[in-house]
Amino acid sequence: MTSRLTGTVALVTGASSGIGAETALALAAAGADVALVARRRDRLEALADRVRSLGTKAEVVEADVTDRAQAVGAVQQAVTALGRLDTVVNNAGVMLLGPVEGAPVEEWDRMIALNLQGLLYVTHAALPHLLEAAAGSRATADVVMVGSIAGRSAQAGMGVYNLTKHGVGAFAESLRQEVAGRHVRVSLVEPGPVATEPVHPHPARGARGRPLGVRRHPAAAGGRRRRRHRLRRDPAGPRRRERGAAASRRPGLTGRDAARPGLRVVRRRDRLCGPADRSAGPTARRVT
Ligand SMILES: NC(=O)c1ccc[n+]([C@@H]2O[C@H](COP(=O)([O-])OP(=O)(O)OC[C@H]3O[C@@H](n4cnc5c(N)ncnc54)[C@H](OP(=O)(O)O)[C@@H]3O)[C@@H](O)[C@H]2O)c1
Repeated sequence: MTSRLTGTVALVTGASSGIGAETALALAAAGADVALVARRRDRLEALADRVRSLGTKAEVVEADVTDRAQAVGAVQQAVTALGRLDTVVNNAGVMLLGPVEGAPVEEWDRMIALNLQGLLYVTHAALPHLLEAAAGSRATADVVMVGSIAGRSAQAGMGVYNLTKHGVGAFAESLRQEVAGRHVRVSLVEPGPVATEPVHPHPARGARGRPLGVRRHPAAAGGRRRRRHRLRRDPAGPRRRERGAAASRRPGLTGRDAARPGLRVVRRRDRLCGPADRSAGPTARRVT
């Protein structure tokens, strides 16, 4: 059966879990052959079996995209194995949260290396192939950047993650202006909180407790306010996740809105990034 993306090839970074894995399956379900990029080969192999069961080809690409040579190699492997490149989903990203004061700077390095540099390396290596595909009979290619609602506002304890996701939005818009005339579409997806991994609650606090490993602001330590965070385990090391209490109660609300009672998100746009769209974030409306 021919589907919308039959005959096209997509590459998804961070395909071994969460949003990336689901995106890869959705692309395969729409008919695309998919190159699956991440570091955990065993997870990619399992996902590749699921992709193939949907009737399309899968190429497992084990790569750390923060290493430029590996990012370039990943794109090359995908093109060599699958023959072309029509869609790139820059999804690999990490959220390591905590206050600036006393922050382990290596966490900042890791976020910047993956959320920004990895995305840049992959995009740079893929662009010639995307332009070539867009110049062909299909006359369309796509780069999708996975940003975040955290790229629209800033919150205490999220500064460097905010910085990387604001950067993703700015880069997407700039690139869109550069290549739109040559039929390469640049899209920016800015999800709110997504439950991508199981919660690992602190054993001493039960299901609603503060999970292991979340660094608290010194001012909050010993205070009465408790935050609920979700944490995922990472074989590569501890990893902190964006899960403020306000966000988990009222997904999508940040900053001052999150503190105001009676608000909830009534609309969220995942859309093409364009100049007019920069102001079109989630809309908070008072619930009566
Ligand atoms: N979940 C949310 O609430 C949420 C909200 C807004 C935006 N986002 C964004 O959505 C994207 C995906 O998030 P997620 O929640 O699905 O995260 P996730 O489940 O933790 O997946 C992250 C993916 O990135 C891969 N990755 C990590 N380091 C890598 C590296 N150096 N090279 C290549 N791949 C690497 C991981 O695979 P390996 O470990 O196997 O390499 C994994 O497949 C991120 O950009 C995130 O910022 C998430």
